Amino acid sequence: MGAATEPIAVIGTGYVGLVTAAGFAKLGNEVWCVDIDADKIQRLEEGEIPIYEPGLAECVAANRERLHFSTELAPALEHARLLFVAVGTPPTYSGDADLSAVNAVVDAMPSSDRHALVMKSTVPVGTGSAIKRSFVERGKAGFAYVSCPEFLKEGSALHDFLHPDRVVVGDDGDWAGDAVSELYAPLNAELVRTDVASAEMIKLAANAFLATKISFINEIANVCEETGADVLEVARGMGLDQRIGRHFLKPGIGFGGSCFPKDVSALKQLAGNSGYHFQLLTAVIEVNELQKRRVIAKLQKHLGSLVGKRVALLGLAFKANTDDMREASSLVLSARLQADGAKIRAYDPIAETEARKLMGGVEFADDALSAIDGADACVIVTEWPEFNNLDWSVVARRMSGRVVIDGRNFLDPDRVRAAGFIYEGIGR
Ligand SMILES: NC(=O)c1ccc[n+]([C@@H]2O[C@H](COP(=O)([O-])OP(=O)(O)OC[C@H]3O[C@@H](n4cnc5c(N)ncnc54)[C@H](O)[C@@H]3O)[C@@H](O)[C@H]2O)c1
Repeated sequence: MGAATEPIAVIGTGYVGLVTAAGFAKLGNEVWCVDIDADKIQRLEEGEIPIYEPGLAECVAANRERLHFSTELAPALEHARLLFVAVGTPPTYSGDADLSAVNAVVDAMPSSDRHALVMKSTVPVGTGSAIKRSFVERGKAGFAYVSCPEFLKEGSALHDFLHPDRVVVGDDGDWAGDAVSELYAPLNAELVRTDVASAEMIKLAANAFLATKISFINEIANVCEETGADVLEVARGMGLDQRIGRHFLKPGIGFGGSCFPKDVSALKQLAGNSGYHFQLLTAVIEVNELQKRRVIAKLQKHLGSLVGKRVALLGLAFKANTDDMREASSLVLSARLQADGAKIRAYDPIAETEARKLMGGVEFADDALSAIDGADACVIVTEWPEFNNLDWSVVARRMSGRVVIDGRNFLDPDRVRAAGFIYEGIGR
């Protein structure tokens, strides 16, 4: 079977699964998508895309005839031999990864000599080996296993799928690893073919390193605030060093999202469970937690007590170009502000539906100007491009206070100050 004609299955049609399915359909593969969420499958069958991801709706529509959606595994098992697993692995209370969805998929697999599970979900090191062991114990030793971690970024997920920096394939050197490598060959990406445990660790280590870079520059930003340096100049000067690189040196109000917080915590716990105390990651997590709260101190500096103060939050999603609210800094911020007695009015161009489910006591506005109406202070929480088009002289007329906290160093401080505002960014 040639790569271009290899039908595949994708189990779990969330951010990773649906993008993977759409991407492979675009490459010409038939894709059999399975999800236990019947409502989601029905919406997909009707042509509705349940998540916001740039270009995804167009890609699904353009390749619709090669995409098949079902709540049943049987058609996927019948048509495909490679079964990509893209179910969620959220954190448990202990900080370990919750593998119950992955285990449910493993349990549902029949005995077979022609199928392989291809793990896209981010799992602890040792998961692949445990799954292979359980296949052997249950008389399903013929089932092959491949670790193929995913590195896409929400907000540019489809682009990242089609233009990966590398493709990692961890396997035992059998047919399944060859087939997955061949499937990705049209993308012309560097292939890292390795063992299963190393592939699993590559994913966790990559995310932990990126999170470390963010917490590092956030601490530099905090020291800049104490010493009068401008962290954006510092980051530029650092990032031009090729050993360091420019990416992920953007100070802000801490990282969130469905991956970094849980993957950093999962790696820390994995190390701890194996008897090793991962000191660096402990600090990365703590710095990130504190960073989300620094906005409160900035507001108090200018407003005094926050009791009864009206604060506008502009942007709620964990970053721009997504509707994903998982572990968004806005959640911590709005809870802390309300605990201190502030009244919150918030606006997000895309994430409002998700935000309404998670944020109690918040008033939602239909646009940025309605959110800032009568506010004592305004906080840029998510760097949505439309906030850069705000006319700050209009904002000045509609707000009752003069404080603008730019949690993403996203605005032009001179423009904001020229309209009479007190502007505070992060680390400058
Ligand atoms: N979101 C990202 O940016 C990203 C990037 C890289 C890796 N990952 C990893 O990929 C995995 C999936 O993440 P996501 O953000 O796409 O999750 P998600 O929550 O958006 O999607 C998971 C989907 O799996 C479905 N599901 C759960 N149990 C199932 C089962 N037994 N059978 C079939 N479907 C089932 C759910 O209904 C849901 O639609 C996670 O392990 C995550 O860490 C995510």
